[in-house]
Amino acid sequence: MSRFPLLTPSSPRWAQMVCENFTPFILDHAACERKASALAMSLVCKYSDRTALIDPMVSLAREELEHFAQVYRLLRKRQIPFETRDGKDAYVGHMLAHLRSGPEERFLDRLVMSGLIEARGYERFHLLSQHIEDPELQTFYADLAQREKGHYQIFLRVAERYFPAGEIEAALDRMAKLEQEALDQAPVQPTLHGGTPI
Ligand SMILES: [Fe+2]
Ligand SMILES: [Fe+2]
Repeated sequence: MSRFPLLTPSSPRWAQMVCENFTPFILDHAACERKASALAMSLVCKYSDRTALIDPMVSLAREELEHFAQVYRLLRKRQIPFETRDGKDAYVGHMLAHLRSGPEERFLDRLVMSGLIEARGYERFHLLSQHIEDPELQTFYADLAQREKGHYQIFLRVAERYFPAGEIEAALDRMAKLEQEALDQAPVQPTLHGGTPI
C-alpha cells in the first residue's frame, strides 16, 4: 500500500500565514516532533503483544526525537526562548474522538490515524519549504520533508501485518475524510495542524 493517503492538499495561504508568524510556528513544530516520538513509544507500551510494531516504532521514536533536537538547536540559534506548547490539538482531537471502540478496530484506526498525521506533516513541511525565504530554514524544511515523506507508510506496513488489505483500505477511506474535516475545522493559527485563513 503506497498511495498517498490525504484527500486534499494544504492551501498556500497556510504557508503564507506561517511565514508571517514563524516564532509560534516553530515552537509548535518542536512540540509536534516531541509528541510524534512519544506517540510511537506509547504504541509500544499499549500494544506490547503486537511484536511487529516494536522495532519500527522504536526507530521512529528515535528519529522524531532527533528532529526535536534539531528544531531545538534552531530555536537556540535564533534566540527564540524555548517553551513547551502542550495545548490541545483540535485536529488530532477530532480524529481521536471518532476512533472506533472495539479493540481490533481501535488498533487499526490508531495506526491509520497516525499514518495520516505523518502524511499531513510531510505535506506541510514540503509546502513550507516552497514558501519560506530564509535560506537556512528553506533547506531545513526541504530536508525534513524528505525524511518525513515515508513515515506514513511505516504505520500502514504495521497495519498490513495484522489486517487484510480491504479492512485497511476501508479504515483509510473513513479516517482520511475525518482528517480533512479535522483540518477544515481546526482553529486558524500558525501551527502545523492549524486551519487555513480565508
Ligand atoms: Fe519528525
Ligand atoms: Fe514523522
